[in-house]
Amino acid sequence: MTVTVVCPGSFDPVTNGHLDILERVAACVDHVIAACIANPSKQPMFDFDERVGLLRQVTGHVSNLEVAAFDGLLVDFCRDRGVELIVKGLRAVSDFEYELQMAQMNARIGGVETLFLTSSPVYSFLSSSLVKEVARLGGDVSNFVPTVVARRLADKLQ
Ligand code: PNS
Repeated sequence: MTVTVVCPGSFDPVTNGHLDILERVAACVDHVIAACIANPSKQPMFDFDERVGLLRQVTGHVSNLEVAAFDGLLVDFCRDRGVELIVKGLRAVSDFEYELQMAQMNARIGGVETLFLTSSPVYSFLSSSLVKEVARLGGDVSNFVPTVVARRLADKLQ
């Protein structure tokens, strides 16, 4: 049996924490689809092409990972791709409540199960939102995002 999973996100922008989860998931399954939502509920800093482009660049070394785009319901994307399993990273208890709701809703409306992979401790505080805030306020984010992302953030904020 071939195991394919979907790792969804806004990836606005992709961080080292995302990358860590994607690499670790890819080491456990046959095929990973990193699914970037085209229109996230929050206004993104990076447009869709930038988010997908950066995600592709920083995951290029993961041979069993594919970057794809989706819009609308995640369970519809999963159904269209014939995938029955979502894998998400879980950083802290504060993530849990919302993630639990989404997992249960996705199971209910689409019959898609969700597995959680705990983040590596070194990344448990990291989020795209905080990276953007630190960068906006002139802080150094080079330890938190791939170099290409740090450069793009700096360009954008110039
Ligand atoms: O990186 P994020 O912003 O935490 O990702 C959130 C995402 C894109 C995974 C979530 O908002 C999502 O699945 N959106 C798709 C719309 C949908 O299916 N909504 C119902 C979820 S129960």
